[in-house]
Amino acid sequence: MKRFFEVAAADERHYPAEIDPRIEHVKQIADHLGPLDGRVIADLGCGKGRFARVYQERFPAVRLVSVDIAEAMVTSAPGARCCATLTALPFRTAAFDGAYATESLEHAVDVELAVSEVCRIVKPGGHIAIIDKNREHWGRFETPDWEQWFGREQMERLLRRHCRDVASNLISYWEDVPPDGLFVIWKAVR
Ligand SMILES: C[S@@+](CC[C@H](N)C(=O)[O-])C[C@H]1O[C@@H](n2cnc3c(N)ncnc32)[C@H](O)[C@@H]1O
Repeated sequence: MKRFFEVAAADERHYPAEIDPRIEHVKQIADHLGPLDGRVIADLGCGKGRFARVYQERFPAVRLVSVDIAEAMVTSAPGARCCATLTALPFRTAAFDGAYATESLEHAVDVELAVSEVCRIVKPGGHIAIIDKNREHWGRFETPDWEQWFGREQMERLLRRHCRDVASNLISYWEDVPPDGLFVIWKAVR
């Protein structure tokens, strides 16, 4: 899997380094995390850091740590960079004020362990946002063998083991387009 993403980094069409900052995925994470200046935030499974780049520009005093299993991905991300797996994050407990993971937990294989690691590194009261695809739409695309899409309840249950105030909603790319059900955002408070 790591090798897949090391190679995929060269594929700019499917793994872009930029995202339109008006997209709802960017906006809803930012709304949940709140103002980021002065905060230490982890982008987990950051890819080339397309989300981190927007937040860094919007909040110049944020301290972002971009984490990805593939060196070839994380090397283009902004902020501090760390090549590591979501299932064994090399950070102390409660090291971060907040964290987000976009379309990365679906690749983490041991999702229970990954969710517990994501939650462990966020301090009590810190906010966590996860965006992934909805299990109800499984089969809509061809996926690698290890990929898993999550039910809303399923991920909410995993988050509730570690967090309070867990919620989820369907999300579309654009505010004026109703969600088609493919993407879900889960929001939690540690
Ligand atoms: C579909 S890309 C999404 C990248 C980025 N979050 C974004 O939205 O642009 C999935 C990313 O998750 C990373 N990834 C997959 N499994 C991982 C794991 N176990 N630990 C850390 N990163 C992982 C991949 O290397 C890849 O960069």
